[in-house]
Amino acid sequence: MNLLHIIILAAGKGSRMHSSVPKVLHTLGGKPLLEHVIQTAQNLHPKKIHVVCSDNSTSIRECFNQYDINWVEQTKQLGTGHAVIQALPFIEQASQVLILYGDVPLISTTTLEQLIEDMPAEGLSLLTAKFSDPTGLGRIIRDNLGAITAIVEHKDASPLQQDIKEINSGILATTSKILRNYLPRLHQHNAQGEYYLTDIIAMLHTDSIPVNCLLAINPEEIAGVNDQKQLAKLERQYQKNIADNLMSQGLNLADPTRFDVRGNLTIGSDVTIDINVIIEGNVAIDTCTTIGPNNFLKNTRIGKNVTVKASCVIEGAIIDDNCIIGPFARIRPNSYLESGSRVGNFVEVKNTKIGKNSKASHLSYLGDTIIGNDVNIGAGTITCNYDGVDKHQTIIEDLVFIGSNTALIAPIKIGKGAMIGAGSVIATDAPADKLTVARVKQITIENWSRKKKG
Ligand code: UD1
Ligand code: MG
Repeated sequence: MNLLHIIILAAGKGSRMHSSVPKVLHTLGGKPLLEHVIQTAQNLHPKKIHVVCSDNSTSIRECFNQYDINWVEQTKQLGTGHAVIQALPFIEQASQVLILYGDVPLISTTTLEQLIEDMPAEGLSLLTAKFSDPTGLGRIIRDNLGAITAIVEHKDASPLQQDIKEINSGILATTSKILRNYLPRLHQHNAQGEYYLTDIIAMLHTDSIPVNCLLAINPEEIAGVNDQKQLAKLERQYQKNIADNLMSQGLNLADPTRFDVRGNLTIGSDVTIDINVIIEGNVAIDTCTTIGPNNFLKNTRIGKNVTVKASCVIEGAIIDDNCIIGPFARIRPNSYLESGSRVGNFVEVKNTKIGKNSKASHLSYLGDTIIGNDVNIGAGTITCNYDGVDKHQTIIEDLVFIGSNTALIAPIKIGKGAMIGAGSVIATDAPADKLTVARVKQITIENWSRKKKG
């Protein structure tokens, strides 16, 4: 049998999250819970992925437009068994079916491959785990020979059964045929008045249909998210895994508990990252680069031997080798810092190229600007790029020196080697290799005396 269909259950109300956001859209590592599950499902190359969600799930569907998914509606949330029934009409008779939960995000591809491999030809394979505190979960009931005879939900379990530590993850692999035969026989005679998917285990046992069990080695893989506390706990676990993986590649990380990757980070050798660094989207950091404390890096490529000092926000930028950035710099999208350039404290850069070895060390706004090589931008320089309607470009050629507190009213060009006197308001192009000054001439009032009190 080689037709694999995957059903992801995601119709639950998620009321314990106390949030207007559907549970499966809450994020783990910056990615919706459901997306983690969908991507893992895709790794198994199924014929189709079916996601069961409630009838009021437009916001969920919209988030996953890029995925090829059969969305199945479950108008009333009558239980996990009822949810699976909704997907069956879309699944051929002779198929294998893997059931996943939209709120169990860290299940691994390897575990699922194992579960499918272990599945008896005409039977069912169940993923279980041993928890020291199994509160709230379905308990695995075994007979004297160790065979699984039933799953009993926590709310239906006797005190003796509640002592059982082996629990049901909810994840299972079986055949479409078994689901078609047994799901219609489910009833709601239980503590929650629901059609429990788990009740088919006892029926299979009665009919001597083999039920196999795979014990998860890694309990976090099957940890579900039911409330905000569980989500936060799983987030830390997820971040720890990412940090461990990066450290095993050689990352020198000051404190794995104060490090967050909400996307993908690739690193070269001898990269150092201090505390409280947040990575979002796709970030690449090359060899011998140091990231100081409290930095936010998003969709950015950083070259070799770069120093990012404390407390910078860098987004959508390319930073070449040997640059020095910060502290307190803000680099906005579409900015390109060529090698050896520097952007210092309280400098904002947007849609701007800064040439080789050029410097903007203090208190500037550089927007829609092309800066050549070996340029010095004095403290307080502002490119006035916006006229209230449109944005305009500033061009500053190689070897220019802009004096402090200069306003450059775009569109404007400062020619190669020009020097602009401090405090200038430059409204027309400044010629190359000349000193241009545009400020009120300084005068001294003779015979002036300061007014005195009384
Ligand atoms: C379920 C299992 C329990 C297991 C636990 C693991 C059953 C009856 N119980 O309990 O044995 O230990 O998961 O976390 O299966 N859902 C729907 N439609 C519904 C009800 C639920 O799509 O009508 C979805 C939920 O969105 C969720 C999943 O099914 O993704 C599990 O539902 P939930 O209510 O969390 O089940 P548990 O009580 O946790
Ligand atoms: Mg649950």
